[in-house]
Amino acid sequence: MSRSPRRAKSSRKIDVRILILHGPNLNMLGTRETEIYGTTTQDEIFASCKEKGQSLSFSAVECRQSNHEGELVDWIQGAVNGAYTGLIINAAAYTHTSIAIHDALKSLTIPIIEVHISDPETREDFRHHSYIAPLATAVIKGHGEKGYDMALEKLAEITKL
Ligand code: DQA
Repeated sequence: MSRSPRRAKSSRKIDVRILILHGPNLNMLGTRETEIYGTTTQDEIFASCKEKGQSLSFSAVECRQSNHEGELVDWIQGAVNGAYTGLIINAAAYTHTSIAIHDALKSLTIPIIEVHISDPETREDFRHHSYIAPLATAVIKGHGEKGYDMALEKLAEITKL
């Protein structure tokens, strides 16, 4: 009986397509409240997420930022049709205010990881509530930019099982 050749494991590209969304003011990272958010820029975070995605053999890591709630809602709606297999979202201040983003996320069936650079629970009271947390598979907060790597690793764990 002939055996079918085995594929080398290392050449296997798993079809994991991740969308990373950033909300308002995160485009100012690097200069904005550096005592809280550090000096790493958003571009540096996005570049490092793409590198991390490659090291995890993901097919794609797409990163977008908007200061506009409706644009974020449009992008979340665009992820309903199977274009992505996982979402990482740091909705910034909209985390604490946006029922529109909450409702949009409700339509997704893919895993959602909520990320915050700081830990909002240790800050002002108005940051203690998240409209995203009830819909998230995991919440990663207070780990600085390392939180994004942690979120990508979490998605690798979930989507490759
Ligand atoms: C943040 C925390 C939010 O409370 C704040 O509005 C942000 C950034 C964070 O990543 O720590 O803009 O989401």
